[in-house]
Amino acid sequence: MPKEPSHPPDLKYLKQELTQECKILLSTLPTKSGWVVSKLYNYQGFWYHPSYLQGLLSCQKHFQAQDTDILLATTPKSGTTWLKALLFTLLNRTRYPHAQHDHPLLSNNPHMLVPFLEIKLYLDDQNPDLSSFASPRLFSTHLPYVSLPKSVKDSKCKLVYLCRNPKDTFISLWAFSNQLRLQEMGTNSLEDVFEKYCEGVSLYGPFWDHLLGYWQESLKNPDKVYFLTYEEMKEEPDLHLRKLTEFLGCPFSVEEKKEGMVEGILDICSFDNLRNLKVNKEGKLPSGENNSAFFRNGKVGDWKNYLTTEMVERFEKICEEKLHGSGLKF
Ligand code: A3P
Repeated sequence: MPKEPSHPPDLKYLKQELTQECKILLSTLPTKSGWVVSKLYNYQGFWYHPSYLQGLLSCQKHFQAQDTDILLATTPKSGTTWLKALLFTLLNRTRYPHAQHDHPLLSNNPHMLVPFLEIKLYLDDQNPDLSSFASPRLFSTHLPYVSLPKSVKDSKCKLVYLCRNPKDTFISLWAFSNQLRLQEMGTNSLEDVFEKYCEGVSLYGPFWDHLLGYWQESLKNPDKVYFLTYEEMKEEPDLHLRKLTEFLGCPFSVEEKKEGMVEGILDICSFDNLRNLKVNKEGKLPSGENNSAFFRNGKVGDWKNYLTTEMVERFEKICEEKLHGSGLKF
C-alpha cells in the first residue's frame, strides 16, 4: 500500500499551470532556493512562488479597485486570519449579527470569507468576475505596497496593513512552512531558514522592505493606509477595533457599544473560538492547506522558545539597520 503523506501534498500553487507570459518573465528573474518550493523568484524587489507571481501579474493588469473597497494587506503569518475574521464580522455586523447561531464565521475559515487577490481570485482566474461582491468589497493581499495594482493607489479605497514582530513572524512562518512541505522533503531546519530570512529571502520578503513600504505610506497618507501591529491588537483589542471602525468610516454607535458589540465581535474572532470550530479543526482550503495550520498558538513572544542569543542579536541588528530613522520599532 502506498505510504500516506502526513503533509498536504495537494497544494494548488505547486501544480498551477503557468501562462506563457509568466514563464517568460520567470526566466529573466533572479532566483534563490525556497522554504517550501524549490525556487523563489525576485520581482520588483520581493520574493515569490512562481504561481503567486502569476496571480500578481493578473491582479496588476486587471484588478479595478473601487473607492469603497477595503484591502487588508499583511505580511504572511502576521495574523491575517484574525484580521480577516475581525474585518468581515465588523463590516457585516448588520447583515450577520455576531451572536447569530449561523454566523458565516462559524462554518467558514476566514480565508474563505475574505479572499486573497493574488493568491486566490487572480490565481484561479486571470480576470475574475467580482460582481457578486457586495459593497464595501473586502479583499486581502500579501503584496508589498510597491506592487499593488495601480487602481488601488489611484482610487480612494482604504488599506489596513497588519504586521507583527519579525521574530514571531519568522517562527510562525518556519512552523507553517514545515506543515506545507512534502514528507519526503523533510522539515526545514530553523538555522537554514533563519539564514534565508536574515538575507531577506522569504515569501514576500525582505520583511523589512514590506513593513517600510506600508509604514511610509501610512505616514504620508493616514486616511488611506492604517498601520497596525499584531502586538497592539493583542494588547488592546477593543481600542484598536474601535479605531479601525473609525478609520473605515463605520464607527460603533452608542447603542452598539452598550449592547456589548465590541466584546462580542472580539469573542467570536478570538483564537480559542476560531481554533475550536469544526471547520478549522478538520477543514481544508481549496488551495490544499489544512485550516488548522492557521491556528498554531497565537501568542506574543513565542520566539523566546526557539531563538538562540546569537540569533536574537543578529535579528535585532538587522532590524536596527533596516528600520533606522523610520520611526518604526519592534
Ligand atoms: P502563531 O504561528 O505564532 O501561532 P496568518 O493568519 O497571517 O497566517 O498568521 C498566523 C498566525 O496568527 C499564527 O501565529 C496564528 O496562531 C495566529 N492567529 C490565527 N488566528 C488568530 C486569532 N484569532 N487571534 C490571534 N492570533 C491568531
